[in-house]
Amino acid sequence: MISQVLRDARKYEEIAEKQNIAEERPAFHLAVRTGWLNDPNGLTWYQGKCHMFYQYHPYEPVWGPMHWGHAVSTDLLHWEYLPAALAPDLPYDTDGCFSGNALVLPDGRHLLMYTGVRREQHSDGHHRDVQTQCLAVGDGIDYEKYEGNPVLDESDLPEGSSRFDFRDPKLWQKADGTYRCVTGSRPADGSGQILMFESEDAFHWRFKKVLAKNENRFGKMWECPDFFPLDGKQVLLVSPQDMLPQDFEYHNGNGTLALIGSYDEETDTFTEERNQAVDYGIDFYAPQTVLLPDGRRVMIAWMQNWDTCTLRNPDQKWFGQMTLPRELSIRNGRLYQKPIRELEALRRNRVEYRDVSVKDVEALALDGVSGRLVDLELMLRPEEGEALYRKFAVRFAQNEQYQTSVSFRPLESILKVDRKFSGSRRAIIHQRRSRVHSEGGVLKLRLILDRCSAEIFVNDGEQVLTATFYTDQAADRISFFADGAVRMDLVKYELADR
Ligand code: FRU
Repeated sequence: MISQVLRDARKYEEIAEKQNIAEERPAFHLAVRTGWLNDPNGLTWYQGKCHMFYQYHPYEPVWGPMHWGHAVSTDLLHWEYLPAALAPDLPYDTDGCFSGNALVLPDGRHLLMYTGVRREQHSDGHHRDVQTQCLAVGDGIDYEKYEGNPVLDESDLPEGSSRFDFRDPKLWQKADGTYRCVTGSRPADGSGQILMFESEDAFHWRFKKVLAKNENRFGKMWECPDFFPLDGKQVLLVSPQDMLPQDFEYHNGNGTLALIGSYDEETDTFTEERNQAVDYGIDFYAPQTVLLPDGRRVMIAWMQNWDTCTLRNPDQKWFGQMTLPRELSIRNGRLYQKPIRELEALRRNRVEYRDVSVKDVEALALDGVSGRLVDLELMLRPEEGEALYRKFAVRFAQNEQYQTSVSFRPLESILKVDRKFSGSRRAIIHQRRSRVHSEGGVLKLRLILDRCSAEIFVNDGEQVLTATFYTDQAADRISFFADGAVRMDLVKYELADR
């Protein structure tokens, strides 16, 4: 049975989508169909396609009562919208169907697990959102909420854990056939923890253990956990709120954190070994992964930062897009990310330059190097026989008024993404700096542009910096700056528009 609330959303999105102007939207990143989008949800390979759901408020380009939008793809770059999958239409989720995940049941049905939100009115006039975990079962298009919902509520929480911060389940089936799920939670110390629950049939759940504790090390509440094996290690991804900066690794506000360690399946024990940020740019949050049939572990995040949602195009009726799907691996104990290899099929018109001298120049332009749908690889090195250069920059999405840039200072080994001149009228952060590995000014960058975003892969995926910008598409120049002498190899492709 499809509720009226869901029927209304489905009708609305189909009509509203017609107002979209394709040339102003990303070509190969999933953007919202209409209205607002945040976290990716329920990433699963099901019936020969990758299903992506997302936090969705179809009616306005601002956060509101959360639905689950829905899209499918085979290459994870070209997405076909399906009708909205969930709407806030029952007493236990009447104020929102928050983030969650999915799996394929042994009988072939698609199981979604999400956070149901119900606003509780307090006598002093304040209200708080009570959060519980709920299920819906479907066929890849229509989903029926489980009659036993909610399947986890405050009575399942360990002592001291908040019933207002209990969300974002990620579930999976273990090799022994039983199920586990992990959720974000806030313990009595006010920071974050990850809880683990277990089930024999994926419908009846009980508390198992506290899988990981923040203990106020990385921000406060931990949202949106994902937990998976990768190259002989186990990775716990979380998105902490209220971070304080730590050197150049973690920055203020909402962040992302990868805890890399080992997992003892027998006792469900996770042992942390290392930690790192997931993305070092500005717009990246709430990543989730999917295991593709060929064994690749691919991550997609919301390409946005809660604190900078005011950077947008006010004329557009949509707001929100996902990052590129990124293939994950562990190298030298670190999480590496590469653009999904299917992107290579979109490459057109190769342009190559070798040994370009970029020396004390404000804006070196190269024939054939421009555009807003671009895959650009740069290999930088110092000029032989000259002092180490002081600064190199590539400026893009550029015209007389606008530019976005990536700059590198080899003496400090600092890479900076800067969108200060990218049309923003708000006093929010526009720049972010990251320390990168570079020996004597040698650096490899791959820059992917998709109309309103830049994803900068450093040293073959050792780090990534992501930022969005909503400038006029006619601002499409690319130029190179150097203070000192740089030698540069460059390969550039246009990326196909749908
Ligand atoms: C993260 C988040 C989740 C929550 C959802 C609500 O961005 O705050 O914790 O489920 O967004 O839309």
